[in-house]
Amino acid sequence: MPERRALAPGVEVPCVGMGTWQTFRGDRAELVRAALESGIEVFDSSPMYGEAEERLGEALDGRRDEAFVATKIWTSSAEEGRGQAERALRFYGGRVDLYQVHNLVAWREQLALLEELREQGKVRLIGATHYNPSEFGALEEVMRSGRIDVIQVPYNPREREVERRILPLAEELGLGVLVMRPFGEGALTGRGGAPADRLLKWVLSDPRCTCAIPATRDEKHMRENARAGEPPWLDPEERDYVARSVS
Ligand SMILES: NC(=O)c1ccc[n+]([C@@H]2O[C@H](COP(=O)([O-])OP(=O)(O)OC[C@H]3O[C@@H](n4cnc5c(N)ncnc54)[C@H](OP(=O)(O)O)[C@@H]3O)[C@@H](O)[C@H]2O)c1
Repeated sequence: MPERRALAPGVEVPCVGMGTWQTFRGDRAELVRAALESGIEVFDSSPMYGEAEERLGEALDGRRDEAFVATKIWTSSAEEGRGQAERALRFYGGRVDLYQVHNLVAWREQLALLEELREQGKVRLIGATHYNPSEFGALEEVMRSGRIDVIQVPYNPREREVERRILPLAEELGLGVLVMRPFGEGALTGRGGAPADRLLKWVLSDPRCTCAIPATRDEKHMRENARAGEPPWLDPEERDYVARSVS
């Protein structure tokens, strides 16, 4: 079972979760059932991921309480933002555990909506995501605003920009960190890559990373990912070895 880590004060989650980008089409109930049984609780989605939000909601039917649902608002329109929230709340039994502003789109306005939903008890934690280091300056501004609990950023041996300022700032401010793209969208696990469990351990050996959210369609891969969330962690030499093997 993946080790549990604090995402925010009083909120612990297993350090391996599951993304849903490109992998949640059609019936995913069997995969989600197996994931919950393997100790995966955090499922990350977005209205940007096609039907994924809705498929995740269906797959959690009857088991919603066992999951920690992270999804996103992704629009510059206030009205569309409300519509996205209404739909997500319908899919997830009236509450979203972590609601994030996707790619920082209209973040001031959308954070106001998420704060309102938190006041109403429909949202537990608030976050912000970006995949592109060119926007990390703006992400720092949001982190320092005091309005978010969690960030979601890419981190893997080929994308290490977060090491410079984002991870130290998250640590200083006590923010949780979800790690997207731990396998570089699959580029690092393919030919010439590294074993998936080594790559996940590479991420999770940095204690500032609260939870990695690899996406997979494959139950066997999901189980392998869940097992990688258990100690022992890599020491600095082992970490360097993994990084060199994919560079
Ligand atoms: N990409 C982005 O820009 C982005 C942006 C925002 C948020 N996110 C979030 O972060 C999540 C993860 O990122 P991602 O989906 O882009 O990429 P990723 O998790 O780095 O890579 C996904 C790929 O890795 C493969 N994989 C998973 N487990 C494996 C294993 N044990 N062994 C071998 N291959 C394995 C999957 O193929 P199989 O299906 O064959 O296992 C899939 O093709 C997203 O789903 C989303 O929730 C991503």
